[in-house]
Amino acid sequence: MRSHLLILLISLLILKSESINCNEKSHSSDLRVFHINSLCSPFKTSVSWADTLLQDKARFLYLSSLAGVRKSSVPIASGRAIVQSPTYIVRANIGTPAQPMLVALDTSNDAAWIPCSGCVGCSSSVLFDPSKSSSSRTLQCEAPQCKQAPNPSCTVSKSCGFNMTYGGSTIEAYLTQDTLTLASDVIPNYTFGCINKASGTSLPAQGLMGLGRGPLSLISQSQNLYQSTFSYCLPNSKSSNFSGSLRLGPKNQPIRIKTTPLLKNPRRSSLYYVNLVGIRVGNKIVDIPTSALAFDPATGAGTIFDSGTVYTRLVEPAYVAVRNEFRRRVKNANATSLGGFDTCYSGSVVFPSVTFMFAGMNVTLPPDNLLIHSSAGNLSCLAMAAAPVNVNSVLNVIASMQQQNHRVLIDVPNSRLGISRETCT
Ligand SMILES: *[C@@H]1O[C@H](CO)[C@@H](O)[C@H](O)[C@H]1NC(C)=O
Ligand SMILES: *[C@@H]1O[C@H](CO)[C@@H](O)[C@H](O)[C@H]1NC(C)=O
Ligand SMILES: *[C@@H]1O[C@H](CO)[C@@H](O)[C@H](O)[C@H]1NC(C)=O
Ligand SMILES: *[C@@H]1O[C@H](CO)[C@@H](O)[C@H](O)[C@H]1NC(C)=O
Ligand SMILES: *[C@@H]1O[C@H](CO)[C@@H](O)[C@H](O)[C@H]1NC(C)=O
Ligand SMILES: *[C@@H]1O[C@H](CO)[C@@H](O)[C@H](O)[C@H]1NC(C)=O
Repeated sequence: MRSHLLILLISLLILKSESINCNEKSHSSDLRVFHINSLCSPFKTSVSWADTLLQDKARFLYLSSLAGVRKSSVPIASGRAIVQSPTYIVRANIGTPAQPMLVALDTSNDAAWIPCSGCVGCSSSVLFDPSKSSSSRTLQCEAPQCKQAPNPSCTVSKSCGFNMTYGGSTIEAYLTQDTLTLASDVIPNYTFGCINKASGTSLPAQGLMGLGRGPLSLISQSQNLYQSTFSYCLPNSKSSNFSGSLRLGPKNQPIRIKTTPLLKNPRRSSLYYVNLVGIRVGNKIVDIPTSALAFDPATGAGTIFDSGTVYTRLVEPAYVAVRNEFRRRVKNANATSLGGFDTCYSGSVVFPSVTFMFAGMNVTLPPDNLLIHSSAGNLSCLAMAAAPVNVNSVLNVIASMQQQNHRVLIDVPNSRLGISRETCT
C-alpha cells in the first residue's frame, strides 16, 4: 500500500518536472488547451492578477450586454465580442495542406475569425494564406451564411464582406470556407471570417474559435461529427508547463459526472446558462434574494459558465451576501482590499468553503479555485467580485478561475452541463 503511494508520488514528481512538448500531437478529438502564459504560448502577458480583474470588467460588461440583447439570430461573428485578450488557446489546422494557428477559445461566442495574409494592422506574424490552400473558397454575397455576418456587404469582387468591432478594435473581414482539422478530426467547408484589416490591440493574435451553440458556431457546423457535445479541462494559469484538454464529441466523455440542466435562452443562443439555486459558505446557505439568481430569458438574467472571464462575478446582492458570510467565518482577521478584490487577508488564516448549489448538483470549490494568492504581499483574496458598480446587471458568470482543474461537460442533446474534478494542472 505504502509503496504504491510512493510510486504514485514519484510518478507525480516526474510528471511535474517534465518539460512540455508543445508540438506533441493531440489524440483523436482531444485537443490540448494552453493557458496564454503557458510555455507553449507565443502570447505571454504580464498583467498582475489584481489588474486582470479590471480587464475582466470589460468582458463582464460585454457578456451582460449580450445577455440582454433582443435578437432572434446569432451572427457568425458577434458585433460585440470579447474585450480582453484570450485566456486559453488551442491549435487549429486550417486549409489543405494544413496551416497551424493557435486560436483563442471562447465558450460564450459563436464567432470564428482568423487573420489572413495581406492583413493590414494584424499583430500576428502567423497569418492564414487562403491562396496556399487548395480547399479554400470565398463565400459569395448570395451564400446563406452571409446574412448571418454582422453588417454584411457585397464587395467589388462579389464576396461577402463584413465589418465588426471587438472591444477597442475593429476588423474588416470576408467570409470564407475551408477545411478545419482539429486533432485528427476533419471538418470540411468550415465557415469563418478571414480578416484583411484590423485596428486596435484587443484581438487574439491568431484568431478566435467560438464554442457557443448559436446556429453558425463550430458546435453547429460540426453537428454530424460532434453532436453538440464537448468537454474541457482548463489548466491553472500558474502551471505554465501543463496543458489542459478540449475533448470534442460524445466519445470518451466522463460517464460518472454530476450534472445540472443546461438552460437555453433563445434570445442569446450562444450562452450556456445553468440554474444556480443557492450558494453555501461553510455549512450555511447564504440568504440571497431569489431574483438575484433566477433565470429569465426575457431579461437575460441567470447564471452562465464562461471560459473567457477569469474571476466569477455575482450580481451585487448575491456577492455581498456571500462575501459577508465569508468574512464572518474568517476568525480574528479583518479583510482588506486589493485592486478590485475586497476580501483579502494577510498571513495564514482558515478560510470557509464555498459551494455553488446548482439544480441537482452541488460544487464545492477546492481552495485553488476559491482563493488567489499574491506572492508579494502574502495576501489571499476571495477570487470573486460583484458586478461592476453603475451596471444594472442581472448576469452571474462562473469564470475560468473557478473551473480550473475540473472537467466541464457541455452536452447539448441531453441539455445538461456536468462537472467533475480532474487534475489537468
Ligand atoms: C518547466 O519545465 C522546465 C524544464 O523541465 C523547468 O526548467 C521549469 O522550471 C518548469 N517550469 C515550471 C513553472 O514548472
Ligand atoms: C468597412 O468599413 C470601411 C470604413 O467605414 C468601409 O470603407 C468598408 O467598405 C467597409 N467594409 C465592409 C465589408 O463593410
Ligand atoms: C464542400 O463544398 C464544396 C464546394 O461547394 C462541395 O463541392 C463539397 O461537396 C462540400 N463538401 C462537403 C463535405 O460538404
Ligand atoms: C479588526 O478591526 C476592528 C475594528 O477596527 C479592531 O477592533 C480589531 O482589533 C481588528 N482585528 C484584527 C484581528 O486586526
Ligand atoms: C506570510 O505569512 C505567514 C503566516 O503569517 C508568515 O509566516 C510568513 O513569514 C509571511 N511571509 C511573508 C513573505 O511575509
Ligand atoms: C446540496 O446541498 C444542499 C445543502 O447542503 C442539500 O440540501 C442538497 O440536497 C444538496 N444537493 C445535492 C444535489 O446534493
